[in-house]
Amino acid sequence: MKTKLLITALFCLSGTVMADDILSSAPNGIMLPENYSDWQIISSSHREDNKTMRIILGNDVAITAVRLGKTNPWPDGTILGKLVWKDATLDKWKKATVPGKFVHAEFMKKNAKLYKDTGGWGFTRWLGMEQKPYGDSPAFVKECFDCHQPAKDNDYVFTHPVELP
Ligand code: HEC
Repeated sequence: MKTKLLITALFCLSGTVMADDILSSAPNGIMLPENYSDWQIISSSHREDNKTMRIILGNDVAITAVRLGKTNPWPDGTILGKLVWKDATLDKWKKATVPGKFVHAEFMKKNAKLYKDTGGWGFTRWLGMEQKPYGDSPAFVKECFDCHQPAKDNDYVFTHPVELP
């Protein structure tokens, strides 16, 4: 936080670059998508092992692809998001599990050419409410891509859109 203030101060002084532009870039140069909280929901999931709930959402390109059933491969311009919260219990109904503390947001941005080394996807993760970019170098994406291999035949995407009436 102190660093953020310092950097903000420095850039305000220089008056040329917006500090937030710099701070919201992941080590691979991808920015935090704007307005992702306005995107539509594609599915949700729950992990028993680390007790977290997730919502998987998509930008307009992704939602159009879902509606058309054209999600393998997902079209260029797709961004899929995953928001993760710790499990919590509803105060007035203990058997209900609800989202508690916010853990992180993750995104997969599709550009078949640009991200060809990682299956056409640019990966990013943003930690906590501060949305701190995850990873020390651009190589952090290997961790993401490696673990997404089981979904290779589904364009490296685990999620299937929810059934809707
Ligand atoms: C340990 C394995 C593992 C790692 C590491 C991993 N993922 Fe995933 N990811 C999954 C699984 C399993 C799902 C689907 C279930 C869920 O919602 O968690 C998923 C889902 C996603 C989704 C929703 C789309 C989809 O494929 O279903 C995004 C976006 C995503 N991951 C981004 C990332 C990013 C970015 C990283 C690296 C910073 C990453 N993942 C690292 C296993 C992993």
